[in-house]
Formats: sequence, structure tokens, C-alpha cells
Amino acid sequence: MKKAIIGGTGVYGMGGETRIETVTTPYGPVEVDLVTLGNEEVVFLARHGKKHSLPPHLINYRANMKALEKLGVKWIYATAAVGSCNEDFAPGDLVVINDFLDFTKNRPVTFFEGGGEPVGHVDMTTPYCPMLRDRFMAAARVENITVKGEGVYVCTEGPRFESHQEIRMFRMLGGDVVGMTNIPEAIFAKELGMCYATVGMISNWCTGMQQDQIALHDIETALGNNKEKLTRAFLRVFDQ
Ligand code: HPA
Repeated sequence: MKKAIIGGTGVYGMGGETRIETVTTPYGPVEVDLVTLGNEEVVFLARHGKKHSLPPHLINYRANMKALEKLGVKWIYATAAVGSCNEDFAPGDLVVINDFLDFTKNRPVTFFEGGGEPVGHVDMTTPYCPMLRDRFMAAARVENITVKGEGVYVCTEGPRFESHQEIRMFRMLGGDVVGMTNIPEAIFAKELGMCYATVGMISNWCTGMQQDQIALHDIETALGNNKEKLTRAFLRVFDQ
């Protein structure tokens, strides 16, 4: 059984002994890193591409997830750079995602596309794998990584950031953090029967939470320290 890490903004590789492989899928080719970890190979996929050249709304989520399936992946940890719309979560904090609100508008959101195939409706009672979430928390304790809490991920279409009123609305609806990529990734993992968990890396306050404007450059800087810590905890889980 294979395990994978999907790196979001700021997380473009894992270091270590790595082979690059291109996986063909019905949705197009996907380049992944196969990273040696003890006797195992862990798959690493840079969601936005290694050079951050793919904006959130143009990522080929279906190809990415089909490629992981084809490689035999069953467990996935994803990182996600997110803004915080919850006063308790500040830039630099890590938050384990426990549910989502889907505000995407224009992306393929399912593998079930009719055409004579059976209709599928996946259950979303636990969109994020409780087992992987628990194991991450345990590994984070061992690695001395502070996890600030759990939170609801609001997924917007992007690539623009949100307006003041959108953030007010998301807060009213119970959103804690805002990003642009976790949907449809989390949905596809469910449809493919994979265990999937996401750790949000808070890179900024959402629009209107503070005075500052948001810039991608600041986001990448804010994630700098956390990414090594996070991958260490993921690998600790995988290595058990
Ligand atoms: N909004 C949406 N996506 C994001 C943000 C944000 O504030 N920060 C990082 N990704």
C-alpha cells in the first residue's frame, strides 16, 4: 500500500533520494516524485507544479488523484496554505481540517459522469480521514509541532482573494480558514476510496481581518518554517 503527500503552496518537494515519474491517466499526464523512505517509496505531488505555475482553478485535480490511485496510493496527507477568518488561528499556526464548505464554481467535481456508468453519491459525514488526523496529531506531539486546533475549510474558486463581505459570510457559516484547492481534491479522494487528510498552514489573515493586503510572496515566506516540520510528522506516520 502506497502513501502520498500532496504539497500545496510553499511545499514543492521533500528532499531525500528521489526519482521523478510521469504517470499517464485518462485526464492527462502527472509528474510525481517517488521518494525513498526506509524500505518504502512515498509519492510526492506538487499540487501547483514544482514552480507554482498552476493557479488553483486550473489544477488538473482529476488527473492528480487518478495518478495517485494508479500508483496504488491509499493514504494521503495534503498541505494547504490558508487564510484565517477565525481570530483564534493566526499566521504561522497549523490547523487540522475537519470539514469543508464548498464555494467553488467552475471545476469538475466528480469522477461519476454518467455515460452508462453507475451513478455514485459519496458520503461526506467524515470528509477527512479520522485515522490519519489522529495519527498526525500523535506524530506532531512527538515532533514537538504545535497544532492550534481543528477547523472548517472554506474553498473558494479563486484565483482572486475574497471580498470583506464574503469573509463575513464565511465566518457566519462556521468557516475557520479559507483556501482555493481542497475541493475537489478531498471529494476525489473519497470517490476513489482513499484516506485523505489536510493540514492547513495559516499564511495570512483573510481580507478585512486586519488592515494588510494579501500577497503570494508573503504567503510563501510565512510557510517557510512549517513545511519541514509538517513533512517530518507525515513521514513519521507513514514509517510506523
Ligand atoms: N484566501 C483564499 N485562499 C488563500 C488565502 C486566502 O486568504 N490564503 C492562502 N490561500
